[in-house]
Amino acid sequence: MEVISKTNKLKAVLRKTRCAGLEIGFVPTMGALHEGHLALVQRARESAGVIVVSIFVNPVQFGPNEDYEKYPRNLSHDVELLTRLGVDYVFAPGVDEIYPAGFDTFVDVRELTEPLCGRTRPGHFRGVATVVAKLFSIIQPMYAFFGQKDAQQAIIIKKMTAELDFPVDVRICPIVREPDGLAMSSRNQYLSPEERAAAPVLYRSLQRAAAMILEGERDAATLRQEIEKELAREPLARPEYVEIVETQTLAPVEKIRGETLIALAASFGQTRLIDNLLVSTP
Ligand code: PAJ
Repeated sequence: MEVISKTNKLKAVLRKTRCAGLEIGFVPTMGALHEGHLALVQRARESAGVIVVSIFVNPVQFGPNEDYEKYPRNLSHDVELLTRLGVDYVFAPGVDEIYPAGFDTFVDVRELTEPLCGRTRPGHFRGVATVVAKLFSIIQPMYAFFGQKDAQQAIIIKKMTAELDFPVDVRICPIVREPDGLAMSSRNQYLSPEERAAAPVLYRSLQRAAAMILEGERDAATLRQEIEKELAREPLARPEYVEIVETQTLAPVEKIRGETLIALAASFGQTRLIDNLLVSTP
């Protein structure tokens, strides 16, 4: 496996790969890798001949009061994990490589970036879409793999890819969870032991909604209330939003019908966590 930090070097290497007729699978990450990321890499290996993983803590997707500085960085450990998985190239650029002085071009998927996480993280998805567009242009993958964990991000990337005509097949992979249901996240390591013990309430509240839907409940307001009630049982959880929305537009629904996304965010101390459940009813 080769770790490459320069854009031009990576482009040159991948040009040869493409000329040789090999298909490139790409997994963008911000590092501090866990099983959720590794599952994306496994999926990439099933589909593509050459695997590229990017590790780049993207400053433009962090707000001024967010955790850019303290975001976990552990390149050597990440590289070790990816070597074991048979990844071909790790792209780990510096900030100046991606955003040279004077950089001033951004990708804005507008309406989809406004609800849910967009309310408290203005500019976040603009930063995500911009870096992913750049990475797609640099790497020109055949396939790119994203996690359902970041449901709004996945929907935004799909729309951006379609509307900007990137010839990339975007694949969304299921959420990987800890045994107690907590969705894996690089930010879980910020949690104190007490907060870590409290955090599975997110999954429990979604499971409560899933059980009610199985029993026939379709009313979004009732389901939301039930989720909020479940979250309120955990004193360390400070809910930010619970939303039940259409998967294409992220518009709130009144009744669950077809594919629906139940998404939530809550803070535990300083740490903000998200989780979601994709439901599909007749
Ligand atoms: P990061 O948080 O490192 O996540 C990289 C990819 O891993 C994303 O597609 C995310 O949805 C997926 N992922 C994270 N936790 C997961 C889990 N528990 N199960 C399944 N997939 C999971 O998301 C980003 O980085 C950045 O915004 C990025 C797309 C790299 C742009 O900077």
